[in-house]
Amino acid sequence: MKEYLKDLMENDKEFQEIINPLITNETVLQMKNFRQHYETTCFDHCYTAAYYCYLICKKYNLDYKSGARAAMLHDLFLYDWRKREPNRKGLHAFTHGKTACENASKLFDLNEKEKDMIIKHMWPVTVEFPKSLEGFILTFVDKYCAMSETFEVLKSRLFMKKAFRYAYLALSLFIIKP
Ligand SMILES: [Fe+2]
Ligand SMILES: [Fe+2]
Repeated sequence: MKEYLKDLMENDKEFQEIINPLITNETVLQMKNFRQHYETTCFDHCYTAAYYCYLICKKYNLDYKSGARAAMLHDLFLYDWRKREPNRKGLHAFTHGKTACENASKLFDLNEKEKDMIIKHMWPVTVEFPKSLEGFILTFVDKYCAMSETFEVLKSRLFMKKAFRYAYLALSLFIIKP
């Protein structure tokens, strides 16, 4: 997670008041043990999505509390989705919204909007439309976060590739220098 974003999130008192009961929960903290996209953990992915959802919903006078809470819990599936496990049925992309909602409901008293947002956050991959505007916001925020997490890694890999190329070129020039 980018440092400036982390600072913004940590210094936003209202956001922290909403999110703190969730991010101090032991089960939610377990999301730190699972990678979501490249080097980003499930926890950081959800935490970032929660902040963006909170900001956007607040800006448009929507239910920003539910927005932040549902986004924080939307990927609470607690397994490595890259690994195939015999006890897991169905494709991760289609099933994990429901799994996350079931897990989150055991821990917190979720309202109907929050449950719907979590279950349908993969829309349009899963065909059922979210019932609320907050739900649509989460679907877009989730995809934005996924793309930027992926892009960050690809950018740094490309940079490393370039850096190696230039280092190799510099070394070659140094060696062949008369
Ligand atoms: Fe997800
Ligand atoms: Fe997600």
